Amino acid sequence: MVLFKHTLSAICLSLALVVADPQCITHNETFVPDAVLRVSTSNISQPCYPSKSTVLVNGTSPGPELRIKEGITYWIRVYNDMTDKNLTMHWHGLTQAMAPFSDGTPQVSQWPIPPLHFFDYEINVPIGMAGTYFYHSHEGFQAVSATGPLIVEEDRVPCPYQYDEDKIIFLQDVFTKDESTIEAGLVASPLSWSGETGMILVNGKGGGSANGTVCNASLSIIDVQRGKTYRLRFIGATALTFASLALEGHDLEIIEADGHSTQPHNTSFLQLGTGQRFSALLHTKPNPEKSTYYLQLESRERPTLTRGFAVLNYGPKPSTPFTPPSQPPLTLPNTTLGFLDYQLHPFLPPKDGSFPTAQDVTRRVTITVHQRVSGQTVWIENHYDWTTAFPAEPYLVSLYKNDSIEFPSMERALANNGIDPISRAFPAQIGEVLEIVIQNTGADAGGLDIHPFHAHGAHYWDLGSGNGTYDATTNEAKIAASGPPIQRDTTMLYRYAKSTANGTDMGWRAWRLKITEPGVWMVHCHILQHMLMGMQTIWVMGNETEVLGKVKRPDVQGYLEYGGSVYGNENRWPSVVHFTDNEEGDGWSDYQ
Ligand code: C2O
Ligand code: CU
Repeated sequence: MVLFKHTLSAICLSLALVVADPQCITHNETFVPDAVLRVSTSNISQPCYPSKSTVLVNGTSPGPELRIKEGITYWIRVYNDMTDKNLTMHWHGLTQAMAPFSDGTPQVSQWPIPPLHFFDYEINVPIGMAGTYFYHSHEGFQAVSATGPLIVEEDRVPCPYQYDEDKIIFLQDVFTKDESTIEAGLVASPLSWSGETGMILVNGKGGGSANGTVCNASLSIIDVQRGKTYRLRFIGATALTFASLALEGHDLEIIEADGHSTQPHNTSFLQLGTGQRFSALLHTKPNPEKSTYYLQLESRERPTLTRGFAVLNYGPKPSTPFTPPSQPPLTLPNTTLGFLDYQLHPFLPPKDGSFPTAQDVTRRVTITVHQRVSGQTVWIENHYDWTTAFPAEPYLVSLYKNDSIEFPSMERALANNGIDPISRAFPAQIGEVLEIVIQNTGADAGGLDIHPFHAHGAHYWDLGSGNGTYDATTNEAKIAASGPPIQRDTTMLYRYAKSTANGTDMGWRAWRLKITEPGVWMVHCHILQHMLMGMQTIWVMGNETEVLGKVKRPDVQGYLEYGGSVYGNENRWPSVVHFTDNEEGDGWSDYQ
């Protein structure tokens, strides 16, 4: 575990107050990053799985646990120690609105870190957004293993719940093929599928069965003591798996979703899609009837069933490893639809006017998702996919360079279902209150799938989900009756059948978002396979002056070329722009 003590470097000291004018600063030997992540590849074999080349963070998967505090600027140095692959690191769920080049998306926010180079990421979590997050590479399929927990601790806004200790339950998938083979297959014509997950790992370990094949590998152990309260932080860092899970003999009390404290909500099971996080309180038994209880996890909405386990252990450290049970102790629910929708509410009622009502909405954008199978199989959103490298450089970089694409036009977008066909982005203006509806439709071949949709840049008010086509009036009545929704960054678009007619609306998810911060952000399905098959969009919030005016050329010059001067290497210190350097935040307001 890496527990940061925030160390103010000499450079930060000279900038201890508000940085009025962000400027380029060289991170030479006097600069001390708050944490260092080193990414490498190595042939590793896990029990049940063939040895293969795997992208690791600090030598392991998952990588080290990072802990930071809200409201403070941190610099995390990420080394790409791989000799033949690009890399980025994304801080999943953090808004990053204050540091536009530190979001870690090679499609948008930065050129990837070239082999044998490093990049210093600037991170400052708005006060009030402490919670459970994770980091992962955003390059290709690397996030399947190059990932780890990122915990933002409460500091200025105390956690409303008391607990003795927290424990991380970090879910990952494992595949037989390595990540570059999987990536190549997904963009090939015809499509070569990744295969199904071989196991659902908990904190890097797991065993159970996949498609009927038993794997008796040793299980992760979650040590607990009697009569205590634990905060279990569930992190859906899977590539594909939508997991249903429950703990034998214990219920859970949900207290946080995607970085926001909720009213307590009791549940006997959880569903966790890729990209989603929940915290739940676990009250351990004062007098357990046995010393170990299984955590059982199963994949949902896939053609085959993967079932994995971990162990909740009340007893002494075992001398031999725990292995999966011969019979699953639990029967987990089969239905996935609408899990927790309209049931989770913010811990404190939203500050006046912060949750926009239907009357406040200034524009509704429907993103229709569809799978096209003529030629290469791609997922398209309002007729566009993002597999084709367009533009051939990160979007924000292109906007700065102003040569290959022009700034998105609102006018063209308004005439074309919200997307500007020339710049292929969804533009929005500061102050707009958007309702974004993601609409599932039957594929060319009729199939339907589930899609955990994730937004970078901001958390949206989650308006729920339903079958058929979205109806604003009916849904507004449902919200009024159930109470204010919570803010999330990843929510599920369900499927209500396995197939329907080509193009038929079947299932929606709706979000509401007041645009307050300029920036360029991805919105995408967090199933890595779908993402690589085109299920990604780009949103440009704010006009040209707002998006590009905060820092101008020549200060950003080092960001505009692959391997530019913001990337350090053995012979060169990087020079980067400091956007938020100070101990107390930069006037970046409380998030609401
Ligand atoms: Cu965790 Cu763009 O994603
Ligand atoms: Cu998807």
